[in-house]
Amino acid sequence: MNAPAKTEDFVPAIPAGVFAETVTSVRHYTDRLFSFRMTRPESFRFRSGEFAMIGLMVGEKPVYRAYSIASPSWDEELEFFSIKVPDGPLTSHLQQIQPGDTVLMRKKPTGTLVLDALTPGRRLYMFSTGTGIAPFASLMRDPETYEKFDEVILTHTCREVAELQYGFDLVEEVRNHEFLAEVVGNKLRHYATVTREDYAQQGRITDLIRNGKMFADLGVPHFDPAVDRGMICGSSAMLKETKALLEEAGLVEGSNNKPGEFVIERAFVD
Ligand code: A2P
Repeated sequence: MNAPAKTEDFVPAIPAGVFAETVTSVRHYTDRLFSFRMTRPESFRFRSGEFAMIGLMVGEKPVYRAYSIASPSWDEELEFFSIKVPDGPLTSHLQQIQPGDTVLMRKKPTGTLVLDALTPGRRLYMFSTGTGIAPFASLMRDPETYEKFDEVILTHTCREVAELQYGFDLVEEVRNHEFLAEVVGNKLRHYATVTREDYAQQGRITDLIRNGKMFADLGVPHFDPAVDRGMICGSSAMLKETKALLEEAGLVEGSNNKPGEFVIERAFVD
């Protein structure tokens, strides 16, 4: 006798070989930015600072984009920080997600913004613009970052003050965290600037490096390859300019295979 045919018409066709995770929370910061958290598959391992391919079923088809994982590798859940692009193939849909919804994730994380890609140093700069703060949200919450460096400086530049909020919340979370607070001590510094609004600190990070204001504000000497290490995440133009400034100071770019004095990764958007 034949088994009765199964009716799977109502089950969304999740592609084979990817994780299908459940959204646990969503927070909207501005009309351009939001963050969300979702369940983490038990078998999913990553290094703080890496990115994964995140997707949604759009109609019949999955649409994926690269997203830095904003949560640290020890976290039970996964967190992401995203831009909302009105006509973006993924973000126009992703910005609508609610707790309980399903988000897809490809199985293999990757990336160069990892501590292993840097040679030992004393001061770590994490240069970010916009959603480029995401991989640093992960590294900032990883105790290993503070075991490897005496001083960790997060720079975050956005167009408007409201866009800095995710970073302020994070730094506060780290400083008050039950376990992290002790490891972090006073090693973490946050240098937040805006470019299109009045604010205490204004200007592109590249200009603030060039004119020396960033060093003066932080009370640190100019870049020194013997001491300073850098990680950069932002738009292509920002990466190119910041990279050139580090290279001018004698720092050499590294990778997973060949650790160096700084590493870069594009903040992926659309
Ligand atoms: P600006 O307002 O002068 O363009 P976006 O939201 O477009 O990704 O930009 C995020 C931040 O990055 C903005 O403050 C923007 O400044 C800044 N930015 C844009 N291009 C560069 C660049 N080439 N170097 C440094 N910062 C940049």
